[in-house]
Amino acid sequence: MMDIKQSKILILDYGSQYTQLIARRVRELDVYCEIYAWDAATADIKAFDPEGIILSGGPESVHMENAPTLNEVVIELGVPVLGICYGMQLLNQYYGGVVEGSEDKEFGYAQVNVTGSSDLFSQVNKTTMDVWMSHGDKVKSLADSFHPIAHTSSTPFAACQHQELPIYGVQFHPEVEHTADGREILSQFVHAICGCENLWKTDNIIDTHVENIKQLVGDEKVLLGLSGGVDSSVVAALLHKAIGKQLVCVFVDTGLLRFEEGDQVMQTMADKMDINVIRVNAQDMYFKALAGESDPEKKRKIIGELFIRIFEQQAKELDDIQWLAQGTIYPDVIESAASSTGKAHVIKSHHNVGGLPADLALKLIEPLKDLFKDEVRKLGVNLGLAPEMVYRHPFPGPGLGVRILGEVKAEYADVLARADHIFIEELRNHNLYDKTSQAFAVFLPVKSVGVVGDARRYEYVIALRAVETIDFMTARWAHLPYEFIDLVSRRIINEIDKVSRVVYDVSSKPPATIEWE
Ligand code: XMP
Repeated sequence: MMDIKQSKILILDYGSQYTQLIARRVRELDVYCEIYAWDAATADIKAFDPEGIILSGGPESVHMENAPTLNEVVIELGVPVLGICYGMQLLNQYYGGVVEGSEDKEFGYAQVNVTGSSDLFSQVNKTTMDVWMSHGDKVKSLADSFHPIAHTSSTPFAACQHQELPIYGVQFHPEVEHTADGREILSQFVHAICGCENLWKTDNIIDTHVENIKQLVGDEKVLLGLSGGVDSSVVAALLHKAIGKQLVCVFVDTGLLRFEEGDQVMQTMADKMDINVIRVNAQDMYFKALAGESDPEKKRKIIGELFIRIFEQQAKELDDIQWLAQGTIYPDVIESAASSTGKAHVIKSHHNVGGLPADLALKLIEPLKDLFKDEVRKLGVNLGLAPEMVYRHPFPGPGLGVRILGEVKAEYADVLARADHIFIEELRNHNLYDKTSQAFAVFLPVKSVGVVGDARRYEYVIALRAVETIDFMTARWAHLPYEFIDLVSRRIINEIDKVSRVVYDVSSKPPATIEWE
């Protein structure tokens, strides 16, 4: 079996908001990589045995007390090194250069002029490049062992290279899309300079994971909680390919899913892909458990705990199961590793339906834990899942429970799912779905007056929410065309009797969150 992790890059994280992006870019170049914290143990770095190392950017200043430092093993390993922003400053400081805070901080586009002919830029083959800068400090005097390979009007050392060793620094961010030639620069480093082979490709990833799962599981049985979301669906498809009917999925229909989603999950997974799926129709249990509760945190808790109870019950009834599968992905692993050392800026910690049932005595299998979301999606399509499903907007674990304000009732969930479906259907019809990052309807349990024919009616309010965002930490409300909002509003009011008014949410995040709760 080919070892597709044999050619690999190590990324040392100095706290940049772009570190994961560097890793995704390297993987897009079909090369495996992992992210370690900048102060990872020397033994771990050696054991990883990378073909090359990338030092990320970071928010600190190299000359400050307690600033993150360069582990000498990075140089001692003798493999090529690329320092990005803070990484470049650190390399310079290490070799005796001077880094200083700068009056003219550079954020955004800059034009760099390439100086001389560095092999780092040989795929780019231009004398000027449009790049993305984001730095306060810069290199004031370059270490003697380096020479400059690019400059801007305000930054004399925008990129540099060691005189003898394959050590490079760039002050700009090649991983960011705005750096037009970033892909070529990273490819040159990873492929040509480090000599990495293109082994990390979707087909190879699937073959390797299937083989690993087979070896690990043998002839034992695996249980998986299917939520209808992308990660658990891809886990199901992958496990099914590896072990077929030794996989048993439990799908809990909470009544808080998208319109007709329960039936769709069964159609795709059970009927079309022939995966073992047990559907538990728990709608009534959920509405009963949620009756009378309008506190958002308590609602989330009820939904999460009930899921675990139902799931455990099912697991006990299936007495010959040895494994529990989970849809953990690589960013979850990085976040929890970083937070255990207290270094991560963990902004969001949501409790999802599908959390680990604590006292099931099962072995854990997490087949996606070395993959980024975009890789999971590619795998999903490759394994036969519909692209519309795999590239769907995110949907919160507690489902419509966080989109029905106040008390959750079956009647409200029905109205909301139908309104949401109309909104999403029209977004797709008008080619707007992929232009928004997340769009949905929210149910407001207040009655407002309307007139239908000659009669006045008092019915509920539906709010439409659509946002554009890259990281979901900040978001801008989507400027959908008025005519489009008008059409959706008419359809919702005409087709759903219990709605008399539709409003559009024009709040951005921050200060508003994406969900209403
Ligand atoms: P907020 O409302 O915090 O949402 O701006 C940011 C993103 O997180 C999603 N979200 C959740 N996702 N379980 C999830 O898996 C949850 O409990 C949850 N709550 C919010 C939200 O849909 C948005 O994409």
